[in-house]
Amino acid sequence: MADAKPALQRELVARGLAAREARWLVDEFYLGADPDALVGLEGAVTRRLAGEPLQYVIGHWPFRGLDLEVDPRVLIPRPETEELVTHALGELAALDVTTPLIVDLGCGSGAIGLALLDELTKRGVRASVVALDVSTDALAVAKRNALKHGLHQISFVQSSWFDDLDPSLRGRVDLVVANPPYVGAREFASLDEVLRYEPYGAIVADDVDGVEGFADVARVIRESGPWLAEHAAVVVEHGEGHGVAARQLAESAGFVHVRDEKDLAGKDRVVVARR
Ligand SMILES: C[S@@+](CC[C@H](N)C(=O)[O-])C[C@H]1O[C@@H](n2cnc3c(N)ncnc32)[C@H](O)[C@@H]1O
Repeated sequence: MADAKPALQRELVARGLAAREARWLVDEFYLGADPDALVGLEGAVTRRLAGEPLQYVIGHWPFRGLDLEVDPRVLIPRPETEELVTHALGELAALDVTTPLIVDLGCGSGAIGLALLDELTKRGVRASVVALDVSTDALAVAKRNALKHGLHQISFVQSSWFDDLDPSLRGRVDLVVANPPYVGAREFASLDEVLRYEPYGAIVADDVDGVEGFADVARVIRESGPWLAEHAAVVVEHGEGHGVAARQLAESAGFVHVRDEKDLAGKDRVVVARR
């Protein structure tokens, strides 16, 4: 029998899907010509045509070397956060510790912590990660992703930033990484409605010190110091307009070698600093 997929894809394009997405959904959900097997595909197409992000409809998405499960309980991992992982790996390499302890704050799907663990393990580095999130829903997804990829050197803690981190870790952490919420409520109201499918608490943060959406980035930078070992690093993604405030805050909090890394569009997006 002729392959039915091209005809199905053409039909989905005629219904309004982009060709790439039509191919993706057919590959993912078309299980055969049986009418029952088409039910799953039709459900997925309906969700996508209603505006739900492709990543949630498919239910998984690549992040660096990992295929992560994603659903509306977690932020969809972004390409700029893949860049953050590169900077974090660079900081760890410069630190040259054999068994680094990493804290991933606001872990969401587990993207940052799991990618670091995966790539460090492949380099023969015996890292361990403590992944925190205030959301138990997000932690459930992150745990599934750890199991899916057989990454066991990771523990999960429900905590608002450092509040419930084991106090015995003070002064022992080699790397703090975070991609906190950093969009102000006013800016959020003006952004693409597709963002409303993602958890509001993963995206929007309070204003602080007159800087919109900066409260969580500021908290992470301010509170990291006491947890870090000597010379250890903090690597924090922030909003496009936060570069100056983030660097000033890191300097006034006593960090050294403070710098900002740019994203692919040339905008300051990741503050990096050392204790
Ligand atoms: C921008 S998302 C980042 C998720 C993931 N790290 C990534 O990069 O894809 C921010 C995460 O911070 C979490 N979060 C928000 N407020 C928090 C808080 N007070 N303490 C800890 N985590 C928080 C959210 O639940 C969300 O998972």
